[in-house]
Amino acid sequence: KRVSKKKHAVKKKITKGGQAMASNPQRFTFPKGFAWGCATASYQIEGAWDEDGKGPSIWDTFAHILGNVVDGDNGDIVCDHYHRMEEDVKLMADLGMKNYRFSLSWPRMFPTGDVKNVNMKGVDFYDRLINELLKNGIEPLATLYHWDLPQALQDKYGGMLSKEFVKDFTAYSEKCFELFGDRVKQWITFNEPSCICVLGFGLGMHAPGRANNPGTEVYLSSHHLLLAHAYSVECYRKKFQKKQKGVIGITLNAEWWEPVSSHADDINASNRAMNFTLDFYAEPIWGGQGEYPKTMRDAAGSRLPAFSEKEKKLINGSSDFFGLNHYSTRAAGRPSATTALQCLPREIKSLWSGMGSAGKFFSAIKPMVNPFAASYFKDMDISPYPDPAGTEYTTMRWAIAPRGFRSLLNYIHNKYHPKGGIIITENGLASQEDTKEAMEADKDSIRIPFFKAYLREMHNAIAVDGCDVRGYYAWSFMDNFEWSFGNSKRFGLVRVDYDTLERTPKPVAHWYKGVMDNNTLLV
Ligand code: NOJ
Repeated sequence: KRVSKKKHAVKKKITKGGQAMASNPQRFTFPKGFAWGCATASYQIEGAWDEDGKGPSIWDTFAHILGNVVDGDNGDIVCDHYHRMEEDVKLMADLGMKNYRFSLSWPRMFPTGDVKNVNMKGVDFYDRLINELLKNGIEPLATLYHWDLPQALQDKYGGMLSKEFVKDFTAYSEKCFELFGDRVKQWITFNEPSCICVLGFGLGMHAPGRANNPGTEVYLSSHHLLLAHAYSVECYRKKFQKKQKGVIGITLNAEWWEPVSSHADDINASNRAMNFTLDFYAEPIWGGQGEYPKTMRDAAGSRLPAFSEKEKKLINGSSDFFGLNHYSTRAAGRPSATTALQCLPREIKSLWSGMGSAGKFFSAIKPMVNPFAASYFKDMDISPYPDPAGTEYTTMRWAIAPRGFRSLLNYIHNKYHPKGGIIITENGLASQEDTKEAMEADKDSIRIPFFKAYLREMHNAIAVDGCDVRGYYAWSFMDNFEWSFGNSKRFGLVRVDYDTLERTPKPVAHWYKGVMDNNTLLV
């Protein structure tokens, strides 16, 4: 009798968190010192968009234009984290977070973008946040730029389209090292250059909403971004690193691109897709030569600016670790395999229909549907986005394909051998099972299996394939403003009720605490 009671107890324990599990789960332990945590970004959670002296960012401007964001949502209030920071950090600590990746809002601290004009109330907010994290035993990781450029710099010289951006970003980052570097030991310069430049200057679906000249502007903005990154890292290394004993790097986003068939042309197409997305930014930094991928230089010609010899030296090796955001796997085929319209990514089609067929959005996707226009997409020269085989989708319409995570980690590890290893700075999903009722019934049946499968593949990459992965941050701590999709996509470990602003941990948050506490995944 006693034995069976015990069995029952064990069973109960392992089903907690809404996830049924074999009574003899397999254990996958991660390397000692593996960094676990979660991530957010300023514009997506803070709200208080014009309070306490904050200047407007390009996302304030963009989201305030009707038709740019689903349902007319914006970041004016969202999670109101600016006013609830202490409560949120406390919840993080209760949920077992060991590391927290957040971003600093440049216009909250320097409303015009100019560091000579400081807003001390904004600085004070991040001071308090960092102190609160440390008090709660949570290690901060600060991203300097997660998309909210001061609008003043967009107005002054076109933001990233101008080389002036490089010196302004470097000056801003230097101020941040000065202000917070005594306590922040991990820095990321830019979050997701590809999304910033391709969505912001190629498709116009992100701020600053330009699709005017995608054959030039995607490259120009990327080039200035990479230079700004390199100069900022140089500044940190020369003036701060020794004393502050921290590390600095960049976060790239990458999907894994599979060929639609084993035909050589399709394989070439998937390689080109990797070049134009991940390697575009990775090769200058980790490729050893400080150069863009050859496929890109050949395709874009002089529209892709070249680095000077001095700049090549500066950019080569300019990251102490490889920050990686990964969500999904896509398929690529040779250009003739499908028509241009079929090639639109699933989520863009859904966004388009969510907005109604009118107006701005059609013009935003024009560069892609017009195969003759000189553009980044034409240069890439693939049929992107047929569906990868045999997969389910999240509510972003992104394929759930954990196998791609392992392949991508191997690709990065084998191609670049990044010093300092790879840190997964984001991974996660949007799921619609987020009504309070569904959560109370403990029915979060999508999230836990998703994280289990992705963590399992990350463990395979580390333990079986020998990839050097050192940390993992789930996206996101709480539901937040998902850019063009507004509040309609819920990525949080914690649910946010946007009417009451009440926070409720989802079952997955309790499950994830178990993984972090034990540095072990049970499957
Ligand atoms: C990448 C971005 O960094 C983040 O801001 C976004 O919310 C997530 N991916 C989900 O799309």
